Amino acid sequence: MKSLRSVGRACAYAGLFGSIAALPLSVSAVRAADTITRKAFGQTADGQALSLYTLTNSHGAQVQITNFGGTVTSIKVPDRRGKLGDVVLGYDSPANYVKNTGGTYFGALIGRYANRVAKGHLVVDGTPYQLAINNKPNTLHGGKVGFNQKVWTAASVRAAHGVALALRYVSPDGEENFPGTLTVKVVYTWTDDNALKIDYTATTDKDTVVNLTNHSYFNLNGAGNGTILDTKLMFNANRYTPVDAVAIPLGPLAPVAGTPFDFRRPVAIGARVNQPNQQLEFGHGYDHNFVLNGYRSGSTVPRLAARAYAPRSGRVLTAYTTEPGMQLYTGNFLDGKIHGKGGKAYVRRGAFCLEAQHFPDAPNHPAYPTTMLKPGQVYRQTTIYQFSVR
Ligand code: GLA
Repeated sequence: MKSLRSVGRACAYAGLFGSIAALPLSVSAVRAADTITRKAFGQTADGQALSLYTLTNSHGAQVQITNFGGTVTSIKVPDRRGKLGDVVLGYDSPANYVKNTGGTYFGALIGRYANRVAKGHLVVDGTPYQLAINNKPNTLHGGKVGFNQKVWTAASVRAAHGVALALRYVSPDGEENFPGTLTVKVVYTWTDDNALKIDYTATTDKDTVVNLTNHSYFNLNGAGNGTILDTKLMFNANRYTPVDAVAIPLGPLAPVAGTPFDFRRPVAIGARVNQPNQQLEFGHGYDHNFVLNGYRSGSTVPRLAARAYAPRSGRVLTAYTTEPGMQLYTGNFLDGKIHGKGGKAYVRRGAFCLEAQHFPDAPNHPAYPTTMLKPGQVYRQTTIYQFSVR
């Protein structure tokens, strides 16, 4: 593994990294106790070399991120006894990320439009755009080749309380049939108190839509260590967006009260997931957008969104976001066939995702908070995944 200093030197040889040459990494950006290192991480199908960045905070807790898809490949945080464990699903081999094996999107950045667009039908300023149908009959997570499959440019940046990696991707006008050149920057900051803060910004040169998220799969007992059914979850959401049989919101927001979607007080994820309930049948479990309380358009202050607690390990994950919604996905399509890090099988309900986002299919629901972005405007979203123990 190269130290940051040697990374900086290596970057001088741009040829070494071909078109993915990282921006120069600044050594002075990193506090003494925190480190960021880089090592080679395989290559894309067309031979572009990839990197894996390791962000270590002053307590030794660690996050790894590859510039392929801006993917978080591991988060190592202590359990209640202080033992570090990796709490996100993923692979040892970069080839599996490059293949998007099983369509899981493990840990990746998702764009240009996270979640679904009904029938791939998008209208911007009266002009229709047909998006790729990659999740019949809808568009999912940006289409055939989403941001999770792109090589991002990486650079370390200054962070007040931790270590940070900035990723940049310019999505050309018309990519996946979305209008406008979208310039996206995502800064991952790994703080000294074990919070992974994700700051997204995007600008465009034409009216377009944008909805970005991170698709990490959490298992607070450790990736591959059984199901998350006993993980207790709290959602700061009085309402959710019920869906049709193909996971498109029906429109109206529905109260969670009296339903298996009521997580206003902590409940084990598995307590109601198999109850006879049409919404749970449509989602094959939880695969729904929660309407987070207290959203204010334009606010840059993250609000409490959700908290998960794994009684076995004592690990707690608290999610904060500026977004109006958060998709809870409980790994319903995992089936044990994917063997991830350390060869461990990823079983059904072996993880949960908390995907901060605007609502699914918002471009076709004028009453939802808008996902429109115009030239001169800046799209901003901040989400924090804070780890602690109990
Ligand atoms: C999202 C979707 C799910 C599933 C996963 C990836 O969470 O809502 O239906 O497609 O991504 O497998």
